[in-house]
Amino acid sequence: MDFKEQIDINRLPEHIAIIMDGNGRWAKNQGKFRVFGHESGVLSVKDIVEGCVEIGIKYLTVYAFSTENWNRPVEEVNALMELLISTINQEAETLNKNNIRLNAIGDLGSLPKKCIEDLDNAMQKTKENTKCTLTLALSYSAKWEIVEAAKKIAKQVEQKEINIDQIDEHLFASKLTTSNIPDPELMIRTSGEHRVSNFLLWQMAYTELYFTETLWPDFRRDHLFEAIVDYQKRERRFGKISEQLN
Ligand code: IPE
Ligand code: IPE
Ligand code: MG
Repeated sequence: MDFKEQIDINRLPEHIAIIMDGNGRWAKNQGKFRVFGHESGVLSVKDIVEGCVEIGIKYLTVYAFSTENWNRPVEEVNALMELLISTINQEAETLNKNNIRLNAIGDLGSLPKKCIEDLDNAMQKTKENTKCTLTLALSYSAKWEIVEAAKKIAKQVEQKEINIDQIDEHLFASKLTTSNIPDPELMIRTSGEHRVSNFLLWQMAYTELYFTETLWPDFRRDHLFEAIVDYQKRERRFGKISEQLN
């Protein structure tokens, strides 16, 4: 049952997005505090990034903190921010050595100052890297992002830089925080929840969705490879019929 061997390397998704869910339940199952689950989840992120690099995935986007997550108990929010800062600082050099570019999307200005600074430094340090782009979705909400894009376009119309007829999907996508990355072909959500929780709503218009019961801290590259094998068995028709493909 070696999933890596089953992957067709010529038909890899270029971009995989992941909703990393189940840290709290994973910790609770062991009688531990939720934050222990978040810490363990960092090991999964590292293994998945390595797994992506190993097989040649160009873009990986992980949902690390949603706008809605600000509503969690303040101790948990603080612990997550601390963990984010320490992880960025510990991993920036390794990312750089492995030719991985760090990127971030979301309402980054709402993060603690230290977090913004360290994130900026790590992004700056890795900005020329070309092997893989790792995007962290932080204080991210798709509805927020879409409203922001609409505001930018409205402003351009107001200032007569563009006229209304020029607004199309391409222009709209260029105003999103993901303007420099392709839409994901595959989205994975762990922990058995079957929802998208305000993640990449525009970008996932035609994404293949993969749900697994595995909790995020248990998710390793072999689970990723299994998801890719499943993805490669699917027929992506984009509204056409089977016979029209190829
Ligand atoms: C995902 O795990 C991590 C974040 C949302 C930050 P959860 O913390 O949501 O874990 P569960 O879903 O409560 O088990
Ligand atoms: C989604 O997980 C956000 C992240 C993984 C960062 P949540 O655990 O916050 O989502 P809901 O509340 O179950 O929809
Ligand atoms: Mg959750």
